[in-house]
Amino acid sequence: MRLDWNPDHFSSHRKRLLDLLGQDDAVLLFGAPHHIRNGDAEFKYRPDSDVYYLSGWEEPGVAILIRPGADHPFVMFVADRDPDMETWTGRRWGPEGAKERFGADEAYPYNTLAAQLPDLLQGYRNLHYRFADDADRDQLLIGALKSARRKARRNGMDVPDAFIDPARLLHELRLFKDATEIAILQRASDLTASAHCAAMRATSDGVMEFELESIIDHTFRLGGGIGPGYTSIVGGGVNATILHYIENNSPLKDGDLVCVDAGCEYGLYTADVTRTWPVSGKFSEAQGRMYQVVLDAQEAAIAQAVEGNTMRSVHQVAVRVLTQGMVDIGLLSGEVDTLIADETFKKYYMHGTSHWLGLDVHDVGAYYREGQSRKLEPGMVLTVEPGLYVACDDMDAPEAFRGLGIRIEDDVLITVGGNRNLTAATPKTIADVEAEVQAGK
Ligand code: GLY
Ligand code: MN
Ligand code: MN
Repeated sequence: MRLDWNPDHFSSHRKRLLDLLGQDDAVLLFGAPHHIRNGDAEFKYRPDSDVYYLSGWEEPGVAILIRPGADHPFVMFVADRDPDMETWTGRRWGPEGAKERFGADEAYPYNTLAAQLPDLLQGYRNLHYRFADDADRDQLLIGALKSARRKARRNGMDVPDAFIDPARLLHELRLFKDATEIAILQRASDLTASAHCAAMRATSDGVMEFELESIIDHTFRLGGGIGPGYTSIVGGGVNATILHYIENNSPLKDGDLVCVDAGCEYGLYTADVTRTWPVSGKFSEAQGRMYQVVLDAQEAAIAQAVEGNTMRSVHQVAVRVLTQGMVDIGLLSGEVDTLIADETFKKYYMHGTSHWLGLDVHDVGAYYREGQSRKLEPGMVLTVEPGLYVACDDMDAPEAFRGLGIRIEDDVLITVGGNRNLTAATPKTIADVEAEVQAGK
């Protein structure tokens, strides 16, 4: 249990959800499954983000039921306590812990869920449950509904006949971060800044990409982080032009850049930061020119990421500055408007500029409203991550740019009338990046 974990935080999320629900609504959520890595070895358990958001519960084998119309609105089904099993599996809170520590109004062993669900669902018309995610759960629920309908024929009570994806309400809540979530994200961001700085200082000719990865992991864990919130990308030289390069097993070379996309997960919230730096500690002239184009685009896009603007407009600003820059440095030729309109720019900038960030690296929340990119509002957190990637065999590109991959990514909180760059502590200007790398030499 983390020191900063507070049950009031999760009950405040439940309250926000309850306020959106009616007396006829029930919400049923299941925890994440345990994933086998190989043989009998399991991946470290990562709770389901929705369940965690509403309960703070971090053990496997959990389901939660929320019914605003009930005397006891918050019911948890959790792994039962079993001292013999706990010798193997580790400590469990059990139903008593669920009530005492996690604020459940009622709590039962998970293995009683199927038997209890028919009665618990009676009296509700709308069930917020995500069908077609997991066949076993769907089957469990179908069985419960059949049984509830049979009972309803005798007792006349309502049985859910409308099924709604809980994401509709819940993911909208998760999109807007409260003060505690922002503090946690700031901590994740600060640890991420420390990790990138440590990796910059450890960079030199011959160092392996995985050495930087291990320094990043170490910094995250040492600072109380869970670890990386997604698999870290450490791409030296041409590896940086592979967007999802995660092998991280090549040596770094003087004269090359290294592109590092790594974010710390702290309190289950993750940062998502990319920096690109020269292995030697000094950008070449061509590298510096291309880097400055990406940096200008990123700063312009961050300035655009304010209340009232759209995420689409953030992308459009990034694309415009990048495209103008590509023309200026000779990567593209032609009219900027035309290169944007016919999407020629995508040859070197082929991904989006932003995504929501929070408990998930690609966090939940709708991007569109009535087919239009929605307006940014205070409490939203998004990434701003333009880049340029030139294939090493691109004979159309000036030779000096071939094989370069540059991305710069920060995490931005929308505030009233402006924004706050949560990851601003990670060096970013050419002078600051060079100074950080050189400080380790
Ligand atoms: N690190 C994943 C992303 O930038 O979207
Ligand atoms: Mn990233
Ligand atoms: Mn990202």
